[in-house]
Amino acid sequence: MTKTIRTLTMLAVAVSMTGAAQLAQAASATAGQPIYNAKCKMCHAADGAGTLPKAKASPLGGAAAQAKSDADLKKAITDGTGTMKPVAGIAGADLDNVVAFLRTLKK
Ligand code: HEC
Repeated sequence: MTKTIRTLTMLAVAVSMTGAAQLAQAASATAGQPIYNAKCKMCHAADGAGTLPKAKASPLGGAAAQAKSDADLKKAITDGTGTMKPVAGIAGADLDNVVAFLRTLKK
């Protein structure tokens, strides 16, 4: 009985540790969406189609944007691209999560 409880406890610890490790690693589109809504949506629209004329010409779900690597998409956000100014206040995991959300916009 004691042995069973100990085994079960160890199993539970192992499972929760694996879960935490996955959470720390995988970029989350679900976590990226609210950031996108707060920092990108006013120019790019909820679906990435764009509200500004220039942003409409470069839809985020379109082939050109989706062909970019994750690194290039992050660079566009932090350094700006064309007429888009750098977006302040996004770094680290937030940046990964926004890029994960951008991937869900693919048409
Ligand atoms: C103030 C308006 C504005 C905001 C805010 C903004 N963008 Fe942009 N973005 C633009 C415009 C305009 C372009 C087109 C630039 C050009 O082609 O000259 C663009 C282009 C891009 C591109 C390049 C698309 C392509 O096909 O090459 C990406 C990627 C992008 N934006 C992502 C984002 C993300 C992600 C955010 C939020 C973190 C964001 N933008 C916030 C206006 C904005």
